Amino acid sequence: MREELCSAHLFSRSNKLMPLARGEGVYVWDDEGRRYIDGSSGPVCVVIGHGVREVAEAVARQMSKISFAHSSHFTTDSVIECADKLAKFSPYSLKHVFFASGGSEATETAAKMARQYHLERGENRRYKIISRWQSYHGNTLGALSMSGNIPRRRNYVPMLLDFPHIPPAYCYRCWFKKDRESCDLECAWALEKEIKSTGAEYVSAFIAEPIVGATLGTVPAPEGYFQIIREICDKYGVLFIADEVMTGFGRTGKNFAIEHWGVEPDIIATAKGISSGYIPLGAVIASEKVFTAFKNPFVHGHTYGSHPVACAVGAAVLDYIEKNHLVQRSEELGKYFLDKLQSLKDSESVGDVRGVGLFSGLEFVKDKSSKEPFDAEVRFNQKVLERCFNNGLLVYPGFGSVDGVKGDHIQVAPPLVVSKSQIDEIVQILGKSVIEAEAELK
Ligand SMILES: Cc1ncc(COP(=O)(O)O)c(C=O)c1O
Repeated sequence: MREELCSAHLFSRSNKLMPLARGEGVYVWDDEGRRYIDGSSGPVCVVIGHGVREVAEAVARQMSKISFAHSSHFTTDSVIECADKLAKFSPYSLKHVFFASGGSEATETAAKMARQYHLERGENRRYKIISRWQSYHGNTLGALSMSGNIPRRRNYVPMLLDFPHIPPAYCYRCWFKKDRESCDLECAWALEKEIKSTGAEYVSAFIAEPIVGATLGTVPAPEGYFQIIREICDKYGVLFIADEVMTGFGRTGKNFAIEHWGVEPDIIATAKGISSGYIPLGAVIASEKVFTAFKNPFVHGHTYGSHPVACAVGAAVLDYIEKNHLVQRSEELGKYFLDKLQSLKDSESVGDVRGVGLFSGLEFVKDKSSKEPFDAEVRFNQKVLERCFNNGLLVYPGFGSVDGVKGDHIQVAPPLVVSKSQIDEIVQILGKSVIEAEAELK
């Protein structure tokens, strides 16, 4: 694996940066001409694939008209068009779009929207956001306060807001020591317990990823989970925010992943796939219930909110998804992909393979029967990542799935334009790389 620091002047999050030169479809090339198959769409982001000309043209068109319009006073055709298309794409009564510039900004905006919703209704004490351990809602301080990702929180705990967290819905390692056949979805009912112990009058919202991404490696909540969550939220006047930053825009074979449960959230926070990573963009989509409660303007906003060029990209990406039937494609190819990935369970270290649509994850273990994880120092996911990389495949690694320290997983989620033969190529390289990583331990 190439390990280079491109510039002494770049204050980077990593000292292992590979210079990328170009991308097309599911492939990217480095500056030495080596080709990699992008098996994770970056950090599960590039839904339409790399190098789509229509997006570049939309940027050029908008920039040649006007590049900036402050959202306090102005709007542009591109902003209106993107909001309209997004409202059409969004399920249920979620039709009211507030634009942000990324995922963390979207989840924090959703938290503030929930707070003002309660203020508008005279419930001034409600402000706490309940979330789940082993979740990720972003890295800015407010978003990190909601995130239950222990490694990312650890350094900053003294700076975070005191928000409650409940156990995750993580059947492979159930926190209640149950299995799916015999459980009563205690993980969902934990929300009611937390609301009661916090005091419902202080609770503003519950936020959750329908399918947990980076922190657990693609873990869907079980059937019935979000139906119970909805019931509890309604009972106690708490809003339900679906964090669809990673799972939106067809990634899971539905427009938004929460549709798998047939449950309407009060607010969706989204980003990543909305612009397919071509430009920073996020959005918060409010339901009729939330929108109509606002008698006053939303006291919130950033300089780059509703950015004309970013919204032109969003509109172009939504057009591309629709024209190329990418949501349907994700649903159909997702089944093929998951089927193929199951074959990796023959490897000694692959404890679990899971996924919905083109959104999959593998969890690695030292011992399959006991599910004992590797010691953190082994950094098994890093070994797999490096092997994949050397073999020309990019995947998205994570760790800490068991207790915040131990637990290795990777996410495999190619752009939705991937073909069957490219899926075969991904699974073949991944299988080979896992065997090579296992051999390193012997
Ligand atoms: C579910 C979820 N929420 C929020 C975020 C934060 O998004 P961003 O990195 O754009 O701030 C992420 C990023 O991975 C995410 O996966």
